[in-house]
Amino acid sequence: MARATTKGSSIMPWLLAALLVLALGGALLVQWLAPAGSKANPQDAAQVTAGKQLYGQYCVACHLERLQGQPNWEKRLPSGRMPAPPHDESGHTWHHPDQVLFGIIRSGLVPPYAPAGYESDMPAFGGQLSDAQVWSLLAFIKSHWSPKIQAWQQDKTRQY
Ligand code: HEC
Repeated sequence: MARATTKGSSIMPWLLAALLVLALGGALLVQWLAPAGSKANPQDAAQVTAGKQLYGQYCVACHLERLQGQPNWEKRLPSGRMPAPPHDESGHTWHHPDQVLFGIIRSGLVPPYAPAGYESDMPAFGGQLSDAQVWSLLAFIKSHWSPKIQAWQQDKTRQY
């Protein structure tokens, strides 16, 4: 009787340790797949399709159909403002974490995304689009990036 008790109690700590490792591993995996603070997943086909539709409706006029941005997008317009940049890999959208891109789409180029008083042609879409719609736009944009760029930008998003 006493022997059985000793045996049982020596297995328990190992079992608990194994469960703990599994739980931690699972939590890390979930975090890696979906970085905290972002709900844009370029691997989610339904989300990308929804984003594509919205892009055609709200963004294509300026950022253009292949996400290539306006011609000479790095040169200031006569108005003194910047043209619409590409969202494909030739632009700098992928330099920013998802949380910043989300904020720019919702609020436009206002602080903290640009200096106070900065003048820009990028509209604020917060009044027209739901959070879920903005995330799907980002999923669509991100789906145009190579796996390497996606991984790099996902790291930035995770660290933000
Ligand atoms: C009326 C033209 C116009 C429309 C419509 C528009 N944008 Fe823009 N967007 C711009 C311009 C111009 C800039 C660059 C602003 C600047 O640098 O001053 C910009 C910048 C951005 C940036 C920042 C990119 C970076 O690298 O810093 C994001 C993200 C963005 N737009 C997303 C969108 C999305 C998503 C839509 C559709 C929901 C959209 N834009 C619709 C003109 C537009």
